[in-house]
Amino acid sequence: MNDKEISERLNPESIMQVFANRIEAELERHQMAVKLDKHLADLEKLVSERTASLERSNQSLSDFAFIASHDLQEPLRKVNILGGMLKSLNKGLNDKSLDCIERMQNATVRMQSYIDDLLMFSRLTAEDSHFVKTDCNKIIKEILLDLEAKINESRGTIHVDKFPEIEADPFQIRQLFLNLISNALKYRKEDVAPVVYISSQINNDGNMDIKVEDNGIGFDEKYKDRIFLLFQRLHGKSSYEGTGIGLSICKRIVDHHHGFITVNSSPGEGAVFRVVLPAKQNRLSAKS
Ligand SMILES: Nc1ncnc2c1ncn2[C@@H]1O[C@H](COP(=O)(O)OP(=O)(O)OP(=O)(O)O)[C@@H](O)[C@H]1O
Ligand SMILES: [Mg+2]
Repeated sequence: MNDKEISERLNPESIMQVFANRIEAELERHQMAVKLDKHLADLEKLVSERTASLERSNQSLSDFAFIASHDLQEPLRKVNILGGMLKSLNKGLNDKSLDCIERMQNATVRMQSYIDDLLMFSRLTAEDSHFVKTDCNKIIKEILLDLEAKINESRGTIHVDKFPEIEADPFQIRQLFLNLISNALKYRKEDVAPVVYISSQINNDGNMDIKVEDNGIGFDEKYKDRIFLLFQRLHGKSSYEGTGIGLSICKRIVDHHHGFITVNSSPGEGAVFRVVLPAKQNRLSAKS
């Protein structure tokens, strides 16, 4: 830089120009920051409004299911009792009439199990989750004892890995494994003894990665999301009994634990259900 250039740079007009440019840029930056803050505040407001409305609709759905299920039980019980009375009061009923009454009573039993499952589903709320240190080994052992008759009858084998301790709601974890293991046994191939692998490992990110793997009839993966919805069934109720609530309960439980559940399968090739649960929860119950 020569002397002339230096003196031009130092002249008050140029200095003022530099300052003016700086101030203009600063003002622009400040305006952008104010705008951004406003957008952020609007966005936060929108998210909290949406969350509140979602919570309200979840709550009213649960309330509805609870009340409806309760109020449905009484008339159902009555229909069943009246059916029984009709049978015993009219000894001379022909086979067709008896068959009709029997089918009506069977339908009430099916309806009762829908109601029981719906009640269980509606009672499963996030607020009622109590996270404590949970021993999955003990829970699975108990489930296998409860399912002993079913396992023996199907000549099934269940292999279980050793599970590390996690922070979870033991009641819900029991329900989760019970539904997955029951499905693995239920959706078996007609002439193949079921073999089920239940494995677990702690991932690098500290999450527990659980797999329940079977060698059963499997299903087309295009239905992999649908089966987690309420009342969705892929296989006929004449061959496989059920209400289609089990996996919706699993999904709800996994959501409460801030984890996720997915499945891989193809027809005739068995199914692998994968559940990922955080080993630790933010909000531990006093009991743990
Ligand atoms: N291990 C599995 N192998 C093949 N299909 C499965 C398996 N688990 C679930 N499914 C399919 O997903 C559907 C939904 O399962 P879900 O457990 O929710 O209901 P369900 O077993 O029919 O009734 P329930 O409410 O008594 O459990 C089942 O009807 C079945 O078609
Ligand atoms: Mg099921």
